[in-house]
Amino acid sequence: MSSSTDRAVRFHRLGDVDALQLDTVETPRPGPGEVRVRVITAGINPVDWKIVVGSSSRYTPSLPSINGNDFAGVIDDLGDGVTSWSIGDRVFGGARFHAQADHLVVAADALVAVPAGVSLAEAGVLDIAGRTAWASVASLALTPDDTVFISAAAGGVGVFSSQLARRTGARVIGSCGAGNEALLRSFGVEPVRYGDGLADRLRALAPEGITAVLDQAGRGTIEAALELGVPAGRINTIAEPTKVATHGVTNIGGHSLTPGLAELGELAALIAAGEVRVPIDGEFPLERFADAYEHLRAGHLSGKVLLRLAEDPAAG
Ligand SMILES: NC(=O)c1ccc[n+]([C@@H]2O[C@H](COP(=O)([O-])OP(=O)(O)OC[C@H]3O[C@@H](n4cnc5c(N)ncnc54)[C@H](OP(=O)(O)O)[C@@H]3O)[C@@H](O)[C@H]2O)c1
Repeated sequence: MSSSTDRAVRFHRLGDVDALQLDTVETPRPGPGEVRVRVITAGINPVDWKIVVGSSSRYTPSLPSINGNDFAGVIDDLGDGVTSWSIGDRVFGGARFHAQADHLVVAADALVAVPAGVSLAEAGVLDIAGRTAWASVASLALTPDDTVFISAAAGGVGVFSSQLARRTGARVIGSCGAGNEALLRSFGVEPVRYGDGLADRLRALAPEGITAVLDQAGRGTIEAALELGVPAGRINTIAEPTKVATHGVTNIGGHSLTPGLAELGELAALIAAGEVRVPIDGEFPLERFADAYEHLRAGHLSGKVLLRLAEDPAAG
């Protein structure tokens, strides 16, 4: 059988974003129990560039490596023994070191169906941010009696955790830059500016007290929360895990919900029902992957950034 080739964002060395390049690789074939997905969209997350830079403590790539994790697409080949999916099914999920390529091969039981009413752009950005937001919000067991502060509330994780926290009935205050205040208000979240004086601004907004905190930014979030008297056990950080031991806070994120496919399916159902929105800050064609990474690294997003590898075959 003749082999075909794909485009893939790969890195052959650790380095800055310029270590990434668009390579030609052999199209993968699914083995027993696996399916092949024609990738249409691939969301990117801060951990994707942290891995390339060499600052991720969680992942060590075997070089050269395809980059990325989040994806959505269409199944175009089935390995032996796969009966749970059909060619043409729309699916999404995460495949670390495989996602930013025209095709990927993944275990048939590691996928979630894209529900009707959810686009492949929306589905392709859900895996890391959606699972992380789901797990971290759940970790605080919020009730309508809570006033929760969320840092970086309009970023990739924040747009989901903001909306999920509001669904508990809690009062939600979220930090953001000036450009994201309207977005947070549209979620029912009260915006507050991050930076020096954060604890004073939170005290003024909520004189009765903050009862729980989701730290998605670091940069003084934990310190402000402790200064305001929030119990350490009700402070969850995904941004500064090194402070867990010293401060007694928790570190529940996507990693503690592996694989988290049931939760991803529940989130997709909420999106399909119009109960959770997926703000897309930027969509870049695969050829402009470097611009997408630079945009993400600049650190001031309103929602998610994704690469588009192909047009949605169901569109138009
Ligand atoms: N452990 C896990 O499971 C896990 C999973 C996912 C992410 N993370 C980590 O969580 C963090 C957030 O991820 P993300 O995907 O949401 O990132 P992101 O999409 O890049 O969002 C970054 C956000 O940070 C905000 N920000 C910029 N400067 C800030 C400052 N000085 N103080 C407070 N906020 C500031 C920005 O707000 P404005 O745009 O409003 O300026 C932006 O919305 C990253 O460190 C990431 O590595 C951990």
